[in-house]
Amino acid sequence: MSDEPRPDHPPRTAAVIPAAGRGVRLGPGAPKALRSLGGTPMLIHAVRAMAQSRAVSLVVVVAPPDGATEVKNLLAEHALPGDAPGSGWAGADLLVVPGGDTRQESVSRGLDALPDWVTDVLVHDAARPLVPVETVDSVIEAVRDGAPAVVPAMPLADTVKEVEPAPDGAPEPVVATPERSRLRAVQTPQGFDRDTLVRAHREVRVGGEGATDDAGMVERLGVPVVLVPGHEEAFKVTRPLDLVLAEAVLARRRATDGY
Ligand code: CTP
Ligand code: MG
Repeated sequence: MSDEPRPDHPPRTAAVIPAAGRGVRLGPGAPKALRSLGGTPMLIHAVRAMAQSRAVSLVVVVAPPDGATEVKNLLAEHALPGDAPGSGWAGADLLVVPGGDTRQESVSRGLDALPDWVTDVLVHDAARPLVPVETVDSVIEAVRDGAPAVVPAMPLADTVKEVEPAPDGAPEPVVATPERSRLRAVQTPQGFDRDTLVRAHREVRVGGEGATDDAGMVERLGVPVVLVPGHEEAFKVTRPLDLVLAEAVLARRRATDGY
């Protein structure tokens, strides 16, 4: 027998997937999460990426406000991990809730739908459909080891400048150049102790378009946030060229491991 103190309840993880955005930067068309990647909606790839982790017991999809029925139909039509009969694994449960006007509002609605038994939460952009399950598992592991907030992150290729924004393409004065080696680009899934993330969404007020980063809200509570290595395939599909890259990654997976 181990001397480790055992919690009264084992940790149970849910993944909230905000998928309610329009995808304005991708150009005209269906809501971004419903657009096809290799013949399958981006959202389905993202749900599969979360449900592939055996530590994820529940996936909450935050659908476009007028698209909850369509999303439910898509989830019913596509095979998800754990569906295989006789696999001995029930897979993750699924819930669909309507989203809001900002990502922050959409994540809040997903959090409101969590059942009581959830102890840990991942928040994962539907727009990052190709995150490998190893990245998901390493985030969950760090949360279960006691970190209240865990973010996968990558070093930057480009040097970054802080500017004084100017309108209409006018030249912008540079304010500062942070040392690149100290900067990281953050990805999802971000993992949290449930109570910490719920408190951040309740207490932290963010102006403008709302928070684009859940960990940033937790930082503002004064709670420590740690980074774990991200993955280059966890990139966000934002602009049209990202779709080209995503199709190429999928084609390579299909060629190498019959994905
Ligand atoms: N998102 C959301 N609800 C919103 C806005 C965004 O659930 N009101 C989700 C998106 O669906 C996406 C994730 O947040 O999965 C990251 O946002 P982003 O990449 O900015 O997607 P969009 O907001 O859809 O794209 P754009 O900003 O180009 O319109
Ligand atoms: Mg957006």
